[in-house]
Amino acid sequence: MDRIGVLTSGGDAPGMNACIRAVTRAAIAKGYEVVGFLKGYNGLLYNKYMSLSARDVSDIIHCGGTILGTARCLEFKEWDNVVKGKENCDSLFLKGLVVIGGDGSFRGALDLTKAGLPCIGVPGTIDNDIACTDYTIGYDTAMNTAMEMADKLRDTIQSHDRCSVVEVMGNKAGWIALNVGTAVGAMAIITMERDFNLDEIVGKMKAMQATGKHHFMVVVSEGVCNIEGITADEIAAKLAETTGVEARATNLGHVQRGGNPTLRDRVSATQMGYHAVNLLDDGISRRVVGERGGFVIDYDIEEALKMTKPFDMNLYHIADEISL
Ligand code: F6P
Repeated sequence: MDRIGVLTSGGDAPGMNACIRAVTRAAIAKGYEVVGFLKGYNGLLYNKYMSLSARDVSDIIHCGGTILGTARCLEFKEWDNVVKGKENCDSLFLKGLVVIGGDGSFRGALDLTKAGLPCIGVPGTIDNDIACTDYTIGYDTAMNTAMEMADKLRDTIQSHDRCSVVEVMGNKAGWIALNVGTAVGAMAIITMERDFNLDEIVGKMKAMQATGKHHFMVVVSEGVCNIEGITADEIAAKLAETTGVEARATNLGHVQRGGNPTLRDRVSATQMGYHAVNLLDDGISRRVVGERGGFVIDYDIEEALKMTKPFDMNLYHIADEISL
C-alpha cells in the first residue's frame, strides 16, 4: 500500500499537532498508510518513524508542541544525506512527504524533490515570516500568548509607575511585535523593518509624561536585539536614565511557542494539512501551501522561497499615531 509521510521541522509551533492530525486522517481517508518521521529530517535520515493511525492522532488537535518532535537538522543540507533520506523513503514505499515547518525546512523539501521524492511544504512557525502566505500555523497562538503576558505586565507597571520593555520572538521579522504592540497599546513598537531612534522614543515618552501618563510599555522584536545588537535591558536603561521612570526589561522567550493552539491555528492547520495531502494524491509535488485573503493556495517551493513579504506599515503607523 502507498504511504504518505509527515514530519515537523524547525522550531515547534502550536497547531503543528492539528496539522499532523489533518494530514494523517486525510491520507487514511484516501486509502494511504501514514508514517510520521521523528525529530524532523533526522527521522528521515536515521529511519526513526512511527506509523500513524486515525486513533494515534486522536486528542492532539488541542495540544501545543508536536507529537513527532522537531529539530533543525544541519546534516540534511548535505546532498549525500538528502539521497540517503530519499532511499529510506523508497524503502517505506512513500508516495510523498508533507513537511510542516519554515523556510529552512522547505529548502530540505525542495532538495528531496530534486532527489525524486514528491514533497509539499506547510508553513508552521510562530514567526509568520514565510512570504508566500498571509499566515503561518502557530502565529496566532504565539501572539495571543505574548499579548496575555504583556497584559499581566501592564498590571504591575501601572501599580508601580514603571516602564516595561517587552522583548518578543519573531526571528528577524517584526510581525509578533507589531501585532502584540498594537494589541497592548504599546507606547512604541521597535522592529527591524523600520528604522528607530531611541531619542525619538524618549521625546515621545516625555511628551506623554507631560500629559499625566506615569506608566509605559515598549514592545521590541528579538531581531532588533539579536541582530542590531541593542538589548531590551539597554533600551530600558536609556529610557529610565532620560525620563526618570523606573524601567524593566522582560524577555518573554520560549513561552511564546507553547500552549494550546487558538481556534484560528487549529482551523488553518487543518485546512492546510488537508490541502497538502490532496496535492500529493493528485500527483502534484514541489508546492508550499499557504493562505491568501482567507483562501488556501499553493506555490512552487522555489518560487515561494524567493518571495518577499511586505511589512504592514499601515498598522505600524496607526499604532504609532494613536499612542499619545
Ligand atoms: O522560529 C521560531 C523561533 O521561536 C524564533 O522566533 C526564534 O528566533 C527561534 O525560533 C528560537 O530558536 P531556539 O528554539 O533554537 O532557541
